[in-house]
Amino acid sequence: MSRFSDRFSEPWDPAFLALNSSISFDYRLAPYDIEQSLAHARMLARCSIIEERDLRALEQGLEQIRTEIDEDRFAVAPDDEDIHMAIERRLTEIIGPVGGKIHTARSRNDQVATDLAMFVRAHSLRAHDGILALMQVLVDRAEEHRDWPMPGYTHLQRAQPVYLSHHLLAYFWKLRRDLQRFNFCMNATEDLPLGAGALAGVNFDTSRMSIAQDLSFGAIAENSIDAVSNRDFVLDYLGAAATCATHLSQLGAEIVLWSSEEFGFCEVSDAFASGSSIMPQKKNPDAAELLRAKAPRIAGHLVALHGVLHGLPLTYNKDLQEDKEHLFDAVDTLELCLAAAAGMVGTLAFDRERMAAAAADDFQGATDVADLLVKSGVPFREAHGIVAKLVRAAVEGGVALGAVTAGELAQIAPQLDEREYRAILADGAWLESKVSEGGTASSRIADQIAQARHVLEEIAA
Ligand code: ARG
Repeated sequence: MSRFSDRFSEPWDPAFLALNSSISFDYRLAPYDIEQSLAHARMLARCSIIEERDLRALEQGLEQIRTEIDEDRFAVAPDDEDIHMAIERRLTEIIGPVGGKIHTARSRNDQVATDLAMFVRAHSLRAHDGILALMQVLVDRAEEHRDWPMPGYTHLQRAQPVYLSHHLLAYFWKLRRDLQRFNFCMNATEDLPLGAGALAGVNFDTSRMSIAQDLSFGAIAENSIDAVSNRDFVLDYLGAAATCATHLSQLGAEIVLWSSEEFGFCEVSDAFASGSSIMPQKKNPDAAELLRAKAPRIAGHLVALHGVLHGLPLTYNKDLQEDKEHLFDAVDTLELCLAAAAGMVGTLAFDRERMAAAAADDFQGATDVADLLVKSGVPFREAHGIVAKLVRAAVEGGVALGAVTAGELAQIAPQLDEREYRAILADGAWLESKVSEGGTASSRIADQIAQARHVLEEIAA
């Protein structure tokens, strides 16, 4: 069976067997393979390529195999090269030689491409749902921390304060783009490969569109050569997954920093942290660290598949079997990371005081002082230079920016009104002054939360 014919006389070398076999990983295509075979068999009967009674036998056999797989009773034989051969072998064991009719007008080449398209579609939907759940958590947490000031950073140096809600929502919008990328992936699996045969089409007048409808594909792949060689949708999934995982890694990295003693902005809940085997005081943000580290693994799978596909002559080449492990591992990794991220962010405890104290460092108001000068007619570049001198005076004097002496102020920035200067740095008004669209002022945050909720409602509708 494994060699299909008497074409070969020597047995397989064990090393070749191990290299060539894909059953250890492609067994997870089984549910899709069965779904597809049932639709294929129905089409064959509809087009009078097989008899009605053949269809009934095939359906009965395939249903039994489905049950065996669902109940984890499906036994793989040593000679089963891949899941497609295993299912056909078992089908013939159950219903006899009529089982061999399932492969009429079909090749493993169009079969595996179809299974894979179904798999990618199903898991794009799961990624979509996982992302949506995390977006929901982020909006809820933003709502809870609407007016909690914290420093905003560039170069990981304190730059300008923002509200925590604003920072959390930044991830919401990143994830929304991820969601759109997974929608694109679903569209990329719309064209049914099945019916392309090995590469050139088949010697029967089949109805591919009827299978497409049966399996919820929107259309058929127009070119049989393209159909069996196309793995674009796998690249699309891996690309979307790599970008999404990269976002999660940024989130993870920030939580690692924020939960350190040095920042002290948040604490990861016990459910997402571990202890140390030697240091009893330790509470480690492992989940966040792993989110940080998983992204390059998925990006690696994307690069690896580009490597497999680049320069590959059309149509099917065994190289294509190397698409699966990259895809499967990316799917498992991403789905796990999304679930862990939602759980961890949902249970993070933020420290209002620590963040507020860091946000109150008045050097973060330097741009606001510059803008005060701008409002009195000083060109911004000049204002920037004047405030830089004030910053230097404060740093050298070891005082806050708002505490430079009246003498220094008069000398460096005669254009500034001292009372106004001290006031702008004293009350932390720099958050509420960021009134531009997309900015951190409370009114803009309120708009943003409403907009985010609207996005979620639209997706749910
Ligand atoms: N296991 C193979 C794969 O995953 C199935 C297709 C085999 N086709 C072939 N012509 N050998 O790619």
